[in-house]
Amino acid sequence: MEVRPRLSLPLTAEGYAAANEAFRRCWSADREEVLSFLRAHPPSAGAEGLNVLGIGVGDGSFDLRLIETLRTLRGEVPLSYVAVEPNEAQLDGFRSRVSGEAKGGTHFTFLPLRAEDYVPDRRFDLIHYIHSLYHMPGGEERLVRMSLEQLRPGGRLLIALSSERGGIYQLMQRFWNDIDYSFFTRGLFGQESLRELFERHGIAYRYELYPQVSIDVSACFEPDSALGRHLLDFLLQADLQRAPESLRQRVLEALAELSRHVHGRRLLPHPSGVFMAG
Ligand SMILES: C[S@@+](CC[C@H](N)C(=O)[O-])C[C@H]1O[C@@H](n2cnc3c(N)ncnc32)[C@H](O)[C@@H]1O
Repeated sequence: MEVRPRLSLPLTAEGYAAANEAFRRCWSADREEVLSFLRAHPPSAGAEGLNVLGIGVGDGSFDLRLIETLRTLRGEVPLSYVAVEPNEAQLDGFRSRVSGEAKGGTHFTFLPLRAEDYVPDRRFDLIHYIHSLYHMPGGEERLVRMSLEQLRPGGRLLIALSSERGGIYQLMQRFWNDIDYSFFTRGLFGQESLRELFERHGIAYRYELYPQVSIDVSACFEPDSALGRHLLDFLLQADLQRAPESLRQRVLEALAELSRHVHGRRLLPHPSGVFMAG
């Protein structure tokens, strides 16, 4: 039997930033839910000021909302925010958002690093991985344990993750033998793996699941849509614009099968959830 080599299609930093932006535009998201979960279980430490560590912050748009939420909970205490993000194109986006908006008493430290290479030099009241723990293959366990050890008393570890039954995972799994994902992951880490990790280590946690979250993939079926092209790259976590046309067509067929028509749109189910430990 002929074994075809898997295609190496890694996205550039700019390509990933564009793909992530397209995803954010089309994802029904869990943002409000994650913020209200944080409001319900805020860090209890930090009377003199809050230390926050964000891992895999992307362009920082959600981090600014997290900061706003912490401010409504804790008032104008000094806030120190360390942002760890290896994609410099995205980190630049975060930097320019911050300089474009009133910093409001927050001191930012931007670190263009992978989580695996970051060595904390202080303790934190809140450490979060908002939809980023997918990208640290083999490092998840060490990072979760290290994060718990780095919390100040009363501090919280907040993790948002999609379900491994979600649309992106299902698509990636279908094309696992066509696309080489070894540069990015060895397996798929989502909610189910996180719960298994917490339980294996006897780590107490709370969580909420949001089964209704979905991605509007309609644009992927519009041949001239730049949004659709970037979104497809995100769904497969690969530069499909460099893939042979036959592979793109098979991906679209799989996407049509996995998504459903709702009020004239095509929605790909992508259940989400949030976890808190500490
Ligand atoms: C799906 S995005 C989420 C971004 C942001 N937290 C949000 O919710 O909008 C995942 C982020 O993890 C980052 N990432 C990838 N590998 C990483 C690593 N090894 N360490 C830290 N972050 C990583 C990506 O560059 C990307 O910005």
